[in-house]
Amino acid sequence: MSVKMVAPSILSADFANLEKEVKAIAAAGADWAHVDVMDGHFVPNLTIGIPVVKALKKVSPIPLDVHLMITAPEKYIAEFIKAGADYVTIHVEATRDPASVLRQITALGAKAGITLRPGTPVESVIPLLNLCDLVLVMTVEPGFGGQSFMHDQIAKISRLRHEIIKQSLNCLIEVDGGINADTAKLCHEADVFVAGSYVFSQDYAKAISSLR
Ligand code: DX5
Ligand code: ZN
Repeated sequence: MSVKMVAPSILSADFANLEKEVKAIAAAGADWAHVDVMDGHFVPNLTIGIPVVKALKKVSPIPLDVHLMITAPEKYIAEFIKAGADYVTIHVEATRDPASVLRQITALGAKAGITLRPGTPVESVIPLLNLCDLVLVMTVEPGFGGQSFMHDQIAKISRLRHEIIKQSLNCLIEVDGGINADTAKLCHEADVFVAGSYVFSQDYAKAISSLR
């Protein structure tokens, strides 16, 4: 079985102390820091953007896993990568030509990820998997931390695992939304677990190790 990775979502961190928080999750065993970028258009919430990625990059001991919940990500990916994003994940619904945006991310030297809303069929990302380092299955409606896990999304993980094996692809499966020790077990076919409220509401090291 593959080694499971954990990417705490800093959306649930103390924004007044982000340097301390990213160092604390790294010291607690986190593999990546998951950074949720929202534009108030693709999702009904506003969070953080390029200057925060740039500031975090200077102090983060671990890679930055940037989840772009923004319309027309092609306008901003060069800036996010210049700011230090290691993984850049775009929504398949957010752009007219996701394949070209994924190629652009790779050409700019970052790892490319694709994701989809819970209501979007998994078939929409399957033809893109060969352009991706990562595919993210959303198990909540994107926009907010602290929502309940949607069990009906688990089948997407199995379908993606099947395709990745069938096509011999080198693509990680990440899951995001409502993840805790119980729901992570249900997603045993995923490689990377994003968790926000679960990690930041308790002892970070205990929470992170309980997800593996
Ligand atoms: C939701 C974000 C998630 C969120 C997860 O739109 O993509 O990364 O921070 O938060 P929890 O783990 O609390 O569901
Ligand atoms: Zn996210």
